[in-house]
Amino acid sequence: MCGIVGYTGPREAYPIIVKGLKRLEYRGYDSAGVALQNGGLHVYKKKGKVADLEDSIAGKNVHAHVGIGHTRWATHGEPNDRNAHPHQSASGRLAMIHNGIIENYAQLKSELVKKGYEFKSDTDTEVLLNFIEEILVKNDCSLEEAIRIALKRVVGAYVILLLDAENPDTIIAARKGSPLVIGVGKGEHFLGSDASPMLEYTKEVVYVNDYELAIIKPDELILKNLGNEKLTPYVQKLDLELASIEKGGYEHFMLKEIFEQPQTINDCLRGRLDAVAGTITMSGIQQYAEQIMQTNRIIMVACGTSWHAGLVAEYIFEELCRINVEVEYASEFRYRNPVINPGDVIIAISQSGETADTLVAIETAKEKGAIILGVVNVVGSSIARTSHGGAYTHAGPEIGVASTKAFTAQLSVLTMIALKVGYMKGTIPQQRYLRLLNELNELPEKAAWVLQQHEKIKAIAEKYKDARDFLYLGRGYNFAVALEGALKLKEISYIHAEGYPAAEMKHGPIALVDENLPVVFIATKDPYHEKVVSNMQEIRARKGQVISVITEGDEHSASLSLDVMIIPEADEIVAPILSVIPLQLLAYYIGVSKGLDVDKPRNLAKSVTVE
Ligand code: AGP
Ligand code: GLU
Repeated sequence: MCGIVGYTGPREAYPIIVKGLKRLEYRGYDSAGVALQNGGLHVYKKKGKVADLEDSIAGKNVHAHVGIGHTRWATHGEPNDRNAHPHQSASGRLAMIHNGIIENYAQLKSELVKKGYEFKSDTDTEVLLNFIEEILVKNDCSLEEAIRIALKRVVGAYVILLLDAENPDTIIAARKGSPLVIGVGKGEHFLGSDASPMLEYTKEVVYVNDYELAIIKPDELILKNLGNEKLTPYVQKLDLELASIEKGGYEHFMLKEIFEQPQTINDCLRGRLDAVAGTITMSGIQQYAEQIMQTNRIIMVACGTSWHAGLVAEYIFEELCRINVEVEYASEFRYRNPVINPGDVIIAISQSGETADTLVAIETAKEKGAIILGVVNVVGSSIARTSHGGAYTHAGPEIGVASTKAFTAQLSVLTMIALKVGYMKGTIPQQRYLRLLNELNELPEKAAWVLQQHEKIKAIAEKYKDARDFLYLGRGYNFAVALEGALKLKEISYIHAEGYPAAEMKHGPIALVDENLPVVFIATKDPYHEKVVSNMQEIRARKGQVISVITEGDEHSASLSLDVMIIPEADEIVAPILSVIPLQLLAYYIGVSKGLDVDKPRNLAKSVTVE
């Protein structure tokens, strides 16, 4: 994710761009930059927020009627000044901003380096820009044509906006897989990742589709496909208000992020999982594959929801890689002078990459000779930089304090790592390996299927919102899901909830059960299913209110439940990525029904950078 703004017309471009970028900062805020046409291209960019960019430009000549601006959510290259957008081409003639990931950038870069290109940044964006310029020069064609040729070789997602010093009133834009809106004014045009930068100027918008390219002048908008065929822009009238746009039309960021999961799971797999070829490509893991294969122990270190992801991963790694795994609360691990042997592999799991307990825990382990791998969402964050290697979850900024899309992205990455290592170790039968790759590949569609139940889950939330306590029960992979479901409810609705291994009930907690206690079972089809069904019977026998997450078609479990939430058939290893989604929605709707601030729950912070 990132924020993109453009303007061409009679007004001063800079103030429009800066205000627009500030409205898009929720999409990413690693760095910000602008490129302005003012008797040549002027590029200003800075690590940090838009306000930091403004401070750095103060006093500079920002007069211009054409410009583009960008707030970055880094994927390739740490957040710093030189990796900030806009990037300029080798000749300086072109300036470009980009939202997305160019997956085959390494291949393109090696071709350009052989032709003598040098790079000022570590980004995939600069590679694409110089690839475009290489074609422009070599073919002696128009910029529009060079972009079309280049994009036919690009693998990945992009929105790009380009300025050309030789055509100062024109912006060229192209889109595939990331969002782009064009605002149509009178003798002026606006561009944005969403409509928020243009809303106060025009409500006439054109949503650019994948594989489309736009040539935009103050009084002309030409839309084409990559085959150079002209298209008729479909101008719509916006009826959204500004506040709702940032949340994509959802009432809260948390709900938006829950519904983003089909996309974010897909983004997580993109460029890594190839179910047809049967390969998993993760460069940050590959370089440590030998150590992971040879280690006697993997220690998952995390906090909160990320710790729950570690618990699921424990079961996955032990099953697929036959490696001993321990899961540690970072806050406990760091204080107890843990026994760390050289060769131990630590996997640090963190959405923010700034959780103090996790950061210190891995610094401790690193000093003792362990290999540190980070599974982190924020590129260039402290935990990412402290780790030896790892893999980013590419879930985009997670604004809601309650972690949702980051959790399913963490599980997706951890499953891919375990599959890669298990395959290399030969501890996964070929058929099961290929089937699990396909299972992962099907997740975005299955997640969308689960989300279609949101109205039913909202009704379930209404029914139980006044309960004083909840229990969440699961076995095996679903035990961690039970813990996560309970945490979601606690932090969003302030209702006390506990997660337990379902079999533990008879060792004490079943004393809690009476007719006032909702008990949520994660009872999806897996080897433990019959045992879980018995546990459901135990709760029913004591008049507990059984609510279940079940697999589609499981009529027996449904007959034992007062209410059910359903997931499609899925292998037990990937099922947690689906079975957690109804629990996220249940917590969200209960919190909303109680009139609580679900995006900013009391007492909580999005990133716990204190010990
Ligand atoms: C989860 O919903 C909470 N926001 C919290 O438990 C969070 O998972 C924990 O603080 C860890 O944060 P991190 O993933 O950014 O390290
Ligand atoms: N992949 C590009 C980068 O890392 C763009 C990221 C974004 O969408 O902000 O700079």
